[in-house]
Amino acid sequence: MSDKRAWWKEAVIYQIYPRSFADSNGDGIGDLNGIIGKLDYVKKLGVDVIWLNPIYKSPNDDNGYDIADYRGIMDEFGTMEDFERLLKEAHARGLKIIMDLVVNHTSDENAWFVESRKSKDNPYHDFYIWKDPVDGHEPNNWESWFSGSAWQYDEKLGQYYLHCFSKKQPDLNWENPKVRDEVFDMMNWWCRKGIDGFRMDVISMISKDQSFPDGPLKDGLYGDLAPYVCNGPRVHEYLQEMNQRVLSKYDIMSVGEAAGVTLEQALHYANNEETELGMVFHFEHTDGCMQQDAIIGKWTKTPPRLPYLRSILNKWQTGLEGKAWGSLYWDNHDQPRAVSRFGNDSPKWRVRSAKMIATCLHFQKGTPYVYQGEEIGMTNMHFSSVEDCNDIEEKNAYRQYVTEQHMISSEDMLSCFDHVARDNARTPMQWNDGPEAGFTTGTPWFAVNPNYKEINAEAALKDPDSVFYYYQKLIALRHKLPIMVYGTFEPLLEDSDSIYAYRRHMDGKTITVACNWTDQKVPCSLFDELQGEELITNVDSHEKGFLLPYEARAVLS
Ligand code: GLC
Ligand code: CA
Repeated sequence: MSDKRAWWKEAVIYQIYPRSFADSNGDGIGDLNGIIGKLDYVKKLGVDVIWLNPIYKSPNDDNGYDIADYRGIMDEFGTMEDFERLLKEAHARGLKIIMDLVVNHTSDENAWFVESRKSKDNPYHDFYIWKDPVDGHEPNNWESWFSGSAWQYDEKLGQYYLHCFSKKQPDLNWENPKVRDEVFDMMNWWCRKGIDGFRMDVISMISKDQSFPDGPLKDGLYGDLAPYVCNGPRVHEYLQEMNQRVLSKYDIMSVGEAAGVTLEQALHYANNEETELGMVFHFEHTDGCMQQDAIIGKWTKTPPRLPYLRSILNKWQTGLEGKAWGSLYWDNHDQPRAVSRFGNDSPKWRVRSAKMIATCLHFQKGTPYVYQGEEIGMTNMHFSSVEDCNDIEEKNAYRQYVTEQHMISSEDMLSCFDHVARDNARTPMQWNDGPEAGFTTGTPWFAVNPNYKEINAEAALKDPDSVFYYYQKLIALRHKLPIMVYGTFEPLLEDSDSIYAYRRHMDGKTITVACNWTDQKVPCSLFDELQGEELITNVDSHEKGFLLPYEARAVLS
C-alpha cells in the first residue's frame, strides 16, 4: 500500500452553504446559529468534517465569494463570537470545520482594493492587476467566467483592472510578495483560532501568464482566458510557499478547487509527499460533461452520458493511484442537484437512483463530499423567468446571450438553467413540511423548492428506507472498512452503456460494485458466482443475471 494514512483521507465531508442551510432569527437568511442548531443532524449522518462556504464580510455580489474583510463575519451570518461557538460546538461533537479560502480575488470593497484604486503610487496599487489601455481598449480580449470582458476601466486612474469573475471581484496580484505575506498571515490567524483546514477557491488560477496574450476566440466577442490563468507558470511555487509557511505547521486538511486542472497537473497539486495541497477538485465529470453538449458556454440541456462520465472518473481513479489523493463529489453549490443530473428525479425513481449514484461514488477511492440536501435527495428547481434567478453567473449569461447577442432564445436559456444552473443547489434546505420547509420563520431570501412537502429531512429521518439512512450506512462502511479508503481501483465492464462497475482490492480482499444507470433491467453476471458479504444494496431482492432499474450493489469477498 503506497498511500500514507491520514485522517482526511478517511473522512467524509459535509458541505454547508450557510445562506441556505438554517435561519435562526427569522430574517430569511441562513446563519451561524442556524448551523449550530443543526449540528446534531449533521453528526447523525456520520460525517467527520463540515466545509463552510464563505462566511466573511462581503457585499454578496457573488454570495460571499467577494470578500471585503477576511477577519470579519458577514453581518447576516452572525458575529465572531457566534463563529467561535460554532467551532466549539462542532469540536465537542467530534466534527471538524474547514473554511473557504478565497484568495484569487477579493471584493472591490476590500480595504486593499479601495487603497489600490486611489492612485498609481499607492502602496496597495500593486496588490491587484492593473494595466494601461491598449489603443484605447481593454489590454486583451479575455472573457470573464461570468460573461463580458474580464477587464474593468477605472476612470480616475485611466487603467483597467483584471477580474476573472464579476467586476466586483478584482484579481489579486500574487506576483507581489506582499500579497502573499498578507494572505499567509491571514491563514495562520484562522489556523490559530483552531479551524481544521481550507477549501481553496479557484486556487489553480492564482498565477497568470505575465504576457497577458489574447485568448482563442470563443462563440461570442471574447477570447478564452483559461489557458493563461489556469495552472499558470508559478502556481506550484506559490502553493509550495503556502505549504511551508502555513499548511505544514498544523494538522489540517486542504482541498484546492482547481478550475481547468488536468490529471497531470493534479499529480503535482495533490502529490503524496504533500508539498502542496492534500487533494483537489477537478471538473472533468461536471463542467466537462456540460461542455460536451453545450449550446453555448457551459449551458446545456443534455444529461451526462455514462460512457463518457465513467471514462473520466476511471481515468482519475487509476491515474492518481499511489501518487496523489483525490476527492469525490457529484454536486456542490456551483452544480445542479446530483439526483437531477446524474440520477432520475421523477417520483418513481428518485430515491432509488439517488442511492445508486451515492453507491457509485462512495466506493471509489478518494475523500467523498456530500452537499447539503444531497443526503435527502433534494432536486433541481424550475425557473420560469430570469427574475426567479439569483446567481450572477445566470443573470450575466442571460443578459449577454439572450438579451444582447440573441444567440439563444429565452426559453432555451431557462431550460438550460433548469438543468445546470448553480441556483438549483442554492434553494433553502428542506427541513420539514411546514411553512418555508422549516428553513425560516420569515420570508426566505431565495424560493424554497415546492417539492418540500415530500422531500424533507424530517420525513427522511422517519423512513428507514430513506436516502438519508442509505448515506449514513455508506459513511459508516467507509469508517469500518479500510479497503474502501485505501484499496486499489480496478475498472470493470468499460464498454457497457448502462452499468458502472469496478472492484477495490486490499490485503487479499475485494469489493465488487455494480450500478445500473438506466431505468431498464439490464443483464449483469458479475454477482452470479460471487460468494461474499453484501455490504449494501438499494433494492429489496435481486434477480440472478440482471441488475434492476437503477440497482446498485456492493459485495465484499
Ligand atoms: C468558485 C466558487 C464559486 C465562485 C467562484 C468565484 O468557483 O465555488 O461559487 O463563484 O469561485 O469565487
Ligand atoms: Ca438569519
